[in-house]
Amino acid sequence: MPAKVDMDKIVSLCKRRGLIFPSSEIYGGLASCWDYGPMGVELKRNVKDAWWKAIVHERDDVVGLDTSIMMHPGVWAASGHIDNFTDPLVECKSCHLRWRADAVEGKKCPQCGGELTEPRMFNLMFKTFMGPVEEGASVVYLRPETAQGIFVNFENVVTTSRRKLPLGIAQIGKSFRNEITPGNFIFRTREFEHMELEYFVKPGTDERWLDYWVKERFDWYVKLGIKKENLRLRQHGKDELAHYARDCYDIDYLFPMGWSELEGIANRGNFDLTQHAKHSGKELSYHDAEAGEKYIPYVIEPSAGVDRSLLAFLVDAYDEEEVGGEKRTVLHLHPSLAPIKVAVLPLSRNEKLTPLAKEVYKQLCPSFVTDYDDSQSIGRRYRRQDEIGTPFCVTIDFESLEDNQVTIRERDSLAQIRVPIGELKKVIEAKLKGEAFDASSLWATRQK
Ligand code: GAP
Repeated sequence: MPAKVDMDKIVSLCKRRGLIFPSSEIYGGLASCWDYGPMGVELKRNVKDAWWKAIVHERDDVVGLDTSIMMHPGVWAASGHIDNFTDPLVECKSCHLRWRADAVEGKKCPQCGGELTEPRMFNLMFKTFMGPVEEGASVVYLRPETAQGIFVNFENVVTTSRRKLPLGIAQIGKSFRNEITPGNFIFRTREFEHMELEYFVKPGTDERWLDYWVKERFDWYVKLGIKKENLRLRQHGKDELAHYARDCYDIDYLFPMGWSELEGIANRGNFDLTQHAKHSGKELSYHDAEAGEKYIPYVIEPSAGVDRSLLAFLVDAYDEEEVGGEKRTVLHLHPSLAPIKVAVLPLSRNEKLTPLAKEVYKQLCPSFVTDYDDSQSIGRRYRRQDEIGTPFCVTIDFESLEDNQVTIRERDSLAQIRVPIGELKKVIEAKLKGEAFDASSLWATRQK
């Protein structure tokens, strides 16, 4: 089944509307690095906030954490990343392009047909030096996952939060991987943000909790508007499992280039805590005083990418429709994800309309992320807001000066209702929470 939109259209919309720009563009860009523009940064924050709300704030069994990107190198020896976080790499002897060996068929370079070298293992961690001396003793790595910051703080968090198991520790932050073949826009990059939960459970209950988290995470995407038919679950084969995993499910999404991993939910067993206990010499077991038991917890890990989720939300929301004989591009984003919630649009830039429009803008600003736009025709301004997925546009016209009412236009149905200015905030609040957009709501009268 082909995806409904190709990636070029998403990339072009992102550039045009200030969502995502190529990094260092005025210098010709830097491969697979991207910058989030004014609209992109709002969307990204909303994705992270939605995850944090569902994982931390709405639960009483998960707490948050924010650990440093650079950690003691011993962490990566214990976690197995120094030995195992590798991809097989082949290099073309003619053009010197490098490929992941498992992504190339046969022995010829896909670019120029040249002969390829034998595969060698390539570690994906970025290495740098701490302090002014560039020598072996000062080597540090940029973290390739946020998970390890959580494992090495397990003891700190359990002790200070005085929580019992099952207990989750959540973290959002940057990770770095020197991917051999990054690409597909923000799908695979060398710098990205992780949203990771390490959920510590009693051994023996781990399989049940894995099933639980697979369902929770699948439902999260659906609740935020992703169509079910564009999502699927895939269990890893035994030969595919990461070095730390006992079992793993991917939530795949139908991206423009085909079905690809959106999020992984792994059963990491007690691999990480056991390894860190061994390498650090600190005991990292959990003491259940009530049951009189002591054990090293198992860990269920839902691990998602902020950027990759954002891409899935964009692709799923993208639509091209015909309205009044004209094409409109629209993002049907869930209101909680939309960068702008309301746009205030005076019918024209007119000295009589402007003061009232500004007053309406000031009234809404403290409650919603609000845009004010009075340039060009109203039709063009609607199109601009549709392209960034703004759920509601509020129009101030000459009648508004007489009756103190304004028109709210809804992005998806294009329905319009008229509402007294004094009730605007209340009405928009209700609509953003999902109240039906029709004349039956308290103050609204449908626009002719
Ligand atoms: N701690 C486990 C872990 O990192 P992973 O399957 O390697 O597991 C989890 O990564 C998620 O992080 C992926 O499903 C994806 O959403 C995101 N991710 C991983 N590598 C990425 C990259 N190079 N660029 C963008 N997102 C990436």
